[in-house]
Amino acid sequence: ATAHVQIALDAPGAVVPARLFGTFVEHMGRCVYEGIYEPGHPTADADGFRDDVRALVRELGATVVRYPGGNFVSGYAWEDGVGPQGDRPVRLDAAWHSTETNQVGLHEFARWAESVDLEIMEAVNLGTRGPAEAAQLLEYANHPGGTALSDRRAANGRTEPFGIRLWCLGNEMDGPWQIGHKTADEYGRIAAETARLMRFYDPGVELVAAGSSNREMPTFGAWERTVLAHTADLVDHISIHAYYEELDGDTASFLASAVHLDGYIADVAAIIDDVRAERGITREIGISVDEWNVWNQTRWNTQDKDAVFAGDWPIAPRLIEDEYTVTDAVVVGSLLISLIRNSARVSMANLARLVNVIAPIRCEPGGAAWRQTTFFPFRDAARHARGRVLPLDVAAPTTETARFGPVSDLDAVATVGDDGEVTVLLAHRGLDTALEVQLPLPGFEVREATVLAAPADGDRHAVNTAGAEHVAPRPLEVRPTASDALEVTLPPVSWAVIRLA
Ligand code: AHR
Repeated sequence: ATAHVQIALDAPGAVVPARLFGTFVEHMGRCVYEGIYEPGHPTADADGFRDDVRALVRELGATVVRYPGGNFVSGYAWEDGVGPQGDRPVRLDAAWHSTETNQVGLHEFARWAESVDLEIMEAVNLGTRGPAEAAQLLEYANHPGGTALSDRRAANGRTEPFGIRLWCLGNEMDGPWQIGHKTADEYGRIAAETARLMRFYDPGVELVAAGSSNREMPTFGAWERTVLAHTADLVDHISIHAYYEELDGDTASFLASAVHLDGYIADVAAIIDDVRAERGITREIGISVDEWNVWNQTRWNTQDKDAVFAGDWPIAPRLIEDEYTVTDAVVVGSLLISLIRNSARVSMANLARLVNVIAPIRCEPGGAAWRQTTFFPFRDAARHARGRVLPLDVAAPTTETARFGPVSDLDAVATVGDDGEVTVLLAHRGLDTALEVQLPLPGFEVREATVLAAPADGDRHAVNTAGAEHVAPRPLEVRPTASDALEVTLPPVSWAVIRLA
C-alpha cells in the first residue's frame, strides 16, 4: 500500500507551545516515593532523589510538570509538606487509600523540578478547601518576604520566592470519585472566587479551570459552558483529560484514538468560542490537556480498584503500573501528532504521569530505572517538533473502525523550526501490511530518520523491562524516488520521525 504526504512549506501555521510537552507528578502509588524519590537508593542525592531517574527525566525532555495531583490534591493540605521533615504529619490519603508521609512537599519537589528544568504547574485543593488556602499557598510560594507566610518559607530554607506562574484550580471536580465533587455551578463559583483572590495577590499568575474528566462524562459540554460562564474573564486555560485503551480487542479503534482527541479538542474549542462571543470576552482561553495517556482503565475500574480500597493503607503501593507495548507507543505517538496539529488551540499538555504510574519511566526500589516504549515518541517529539506547524494533506488507505468509521492508516504532522529544519512525525496505524510513504520535498536532505516498531520477531505486544529495552527507535531508510520525492517504508503499527533541512 502507498500513501502520500503533501506538506505546504510556505504556509506555516501556529507555533507549537513549548508547554505541549508537559508531564505530571502526582502523590500516587510509586510516582513520588520509590519513583523520583528514594533515599537509600545507590544513586540517591543528598535530598533523596534518584539520579538514574533524573537522567531519564532529562532525556525525556519534558518542559512542565503538574503537581501534586490529580485526585490526591483534592484532599491535600500543602502545609503538611513544608517545614522540618521530621515534624511533618503522616496522613491518610483518601484519594488513593494510601498513607502519605509528607516527606516530599513543595520545597523538595521544587528543588528537584529545578534540577531537571521543569516548570511547575501547581494544583490547588478545591475539594476540601477553598480560596483562602489557595491564596495562602500562593503567598507562601511567591511573595518576596516580610509577611508571616513568606517569612515562613524563608525559615524553611528558601529565601527566594518559588515564582510559580501556572496554577490549576482544582482537579476533575465533575467526577463523583473526586473528594469534594461539585456541580458545575458550585465549582464555577469556587473557581472564580479562587481565581479572583489569587489574582489580587499576584496578577501574573496563569490559571487553569478544570474542564470535564473525559469526553464521555454525562455532564460534558454543559460543564464547560457553566464553568466558563463563571470564570471566562478570570482564567487562561480550561482543561481536558483524555485517556485511551484498547476495548474488547478492537485494536483498529484503539490505534485511531487521535481521531477522538481531535474531536474532543474541537468540541471544547467551539464551547470556548461560543462563551467568549456571547459574553464579549477578549481574553484568550487555551485548552490545557493536562492529563493524557494510554491507560488500561477497565482493569483499574473492574479489578484493581476494589482491592486497593478494601485493603489497608500502604505507603507508596503499586498502583496502575501499566506496561506499555509497541501498539501503546504508536497510540501515544499519534496522540502527540494530534496535540501538535492542534497547537492553535492547545496551550499545554501533560503526559500523565512521569514515573511508575502509567508512565514512560519505570524503576524498582534499590534497582534499575528504564524507558517504557512510550518514552520514545514523547522524547523525540519534544526534542524535534518545535517551531511552527506546517499544513499538510495525507492521502492513504483507510481502515474501517467500529468507533470512528473509516480512518486513514497514516496520521502525520510537520513542523518547521527557526533554523529551517522540517520535522515530520508519522503514525502508521495499519495492522497488517507495510506502507510506502512518499513525501515530495525536493531539495531537502535528511538529517535523521528513525522508526519505532515491533522488534525483529514482529511482536507488537513487546514491552520493555528492567535491563531489557527491546523496543527502541531504529534507523529508517529514506530513499529518493524518480519523481524527486522521498520515500520510506513503515512497518505495520509504527511511528516515525524524519528530520530534514
Ligand atoms: O490517573 C489517575 C487519576 O486519573 C488522576 O488522579 C485523576 O485526575 C484522574 O481521574
